[in-house]
Amino acid sequence: MTLEEARAAFPVLERFAYLNAGSAGPFARATVEAMRRHLDGDLERGRSGRPYFDEMLELRERLRARIGRLIDVSAENLALVDSTSRGCSTVLAGLGLRPEDEIVTTDVEHFGLLGPVHASGARVRGAVDAAGRPAARLSAAIAAPRSPASASRSGMAS
Ligand SMILES: Cc1ncc(COP(=O)(O)O)c(C=O)c1O
Repeated sequence: MTLEEARAAFPVLERFAYLNAGSAGPFARATVEAMRRHLDGDLERGRSGRPYFDEMLELRERLRARIGRLIDVSAENLALVDSTSRGCSTVLAGLGLRPEDEIVTTDVEHFGLLGPVHASGARVRGAVDAAGRPAARLSAAIAAPRSPASASRSGMAS
């Protein structure tokens, strides 16, 4: 897919430079069509019963496999979550961090990441502040972690 084709998948980009990719990110045409098809089915058939449940589970498996192929990751290493914030908190909870672990981050992160970071149990070190100190300072802080654990975990960003 070329950049032009990717942009064309999002009709709103014909009118705006759309900079929000989080909670209020733009919809692709194919996404809305799939949602409409699914909702029409829900409207006609209802949303319960064994076949409905089995289909939902199968759809999830197919989606995980498809995303996995796109980013070259096996489906068993992919989890579907309902938001970026949920993804950040799921990953951080799974790391089992302790006070001797250290996370290097900035104070300009979205709370969807900062909240789970501060609730993780690890020590948190801010390397860049909103006053616009250079990103190079963050790179230097990551390159010189204070604890071994922070070295492998500091690359996380929302
Ligand atoms: C950088 C960034 N991270 C995370 C989020 C939160 O996204 P979500 O609503 O999917 O949890 C947002 C929301 O706009 C965001 O801008």
